[in-house]
Amino acid sequence: MSYRLLRPLVFLADPERAHGWGLEALRRLERLESGRLHKASALAPLLASLRGGAADLPPEAPVELLGLRFPNRVGLAAGFDKNATCVDGLGALGFGFVEVGTVTPRPQPGQAKPRVFRLPSAEALINRMGFPNEGAARAAERLRHRQYRGIVGVNIGKNADTPLDRATDDYLACLDTVHAVADYVAVNISSPNTAGLRDLQEADRLAPMLDALLERRAELAKTNGREVPLLVKIAPDLTEPAIAAIVGLIQRSGLDGVIATNSTVSRQYVGGLEHANEAGGLSGAPLRHLSLHVVRQLRQRLGPAFPIIGVGGINSPQAALEMRVAGADLVQLYTALVYEGPRIVTELRRALAPPPTAPAIAAY
Ligand SMILES: Cc1cc2nc3c(=O)[nH]c(=O)nc-3n(C[C@H](O)[C@H](O)[C@H](O)COP(=O)(O)O)c2cc1C
Repeated sequence: MSYRLLRPLVFLADPERAHGWGLEALRRLERLESGRLHKASALAPLLASLRGGAADLPPEAPVELLGLRFPNRVGLAAGFDKNATCVDGLGALGFGFVEVGTVTPRPQPGQAKPRVFRLPSAEALINRMGFPNEGAARAAERLRHRQYRGIVGVNIGKNADTPLDRATDDYLACLDTVHAVADYVAVNISSPNTAGLRDLQEADRLAPMLDALLERRAELAKTNGREVPLLVKIAPDLTEPAIAAIVGLIQRSGLDGVIATNSTVSRQYVGGLEHANEAGGLSGAPLRHLSLHVVRQLRQRLGPAFPIIGVGGINSPQAALEMRVAGADLVQLYTALVYEGPRIVTELRRALAPPPTAPAIAAY
């Protein structure tokens, strides 16, 4: 059974409910892989076929980045598994890395439903989830017991009711909680659905916050005996001067990497479509050019060696290659999983397996 056949049925359901089914299927896949779900179960063949075959993948050289070894270049973007409930199942889909969260220090319900909308003709989503999550400690506890051998990042944010001038305290609290179990930590200052959050991208707010986080990270490295790279996740709606200012801060502070980008508040490519005027962040195909543009600028300004993770509208092997050419070392996706299904992971791994000098990219 291919996801293409299943998709019309999935799309009859409310997007958030369908997402819940997806998470449940992943937890079953996890049990199937670990032998806890009997191979003869009616669900087993369905789960196996949805995952898609990775058997004929060419050999993939692991990628050394951020002091970590990524099994492949394709990752799951933040927001899909906010509470780290199915990291092992996501690993079984073939992701080289999984970013869980956004988590906040205290649990919170997020915004009122409905808060996720499909724009099928544009292969896009609009969401205004507002970080519903069970709190950083629950996610950390689950990560402690993971079997998945790939890389796990934890994306951290602030609670909706924490005033902006206390935001640093929330990020520090999250860092304290997840430091021992995260392979990297992503500082989310770019979600459009927490009032004021994106203002943290302004240099005079960001500079002291990054300094505080890096100082705490150094203390935690001593306590926990491990180095955890710190990355910042930025918006696609920044002006060129704003990007230049962030780059200056990144270089000065000693931050390890950048994730570009989050969803956009722009509606320039979806005007007139049903749901286009819903408040929230737009993700998927219409975001691709904005994200590529930001990644290109970052690569130009940060030089060839600085770690960049590219995300936004990657829904095909060509789009993934384009993101690599723009300068991303690794890619992430979310919305393409909804529109293309899990096989997209294998397709992107196949496209990105050869080194960037190989004919695949040269021909592109
Ligand atoms: C429903 C939904 C929830 C999301 N939640 C988060 C989140 O909690 N934290 C975050 O940093 N990004 C979140 N994102 C943004 C994605 O991680 C990603 O940056 C964005 O969707 C662009 O990638 P895509 O076009 O492949 O979906 C969310 C996206 C969607 C669609």
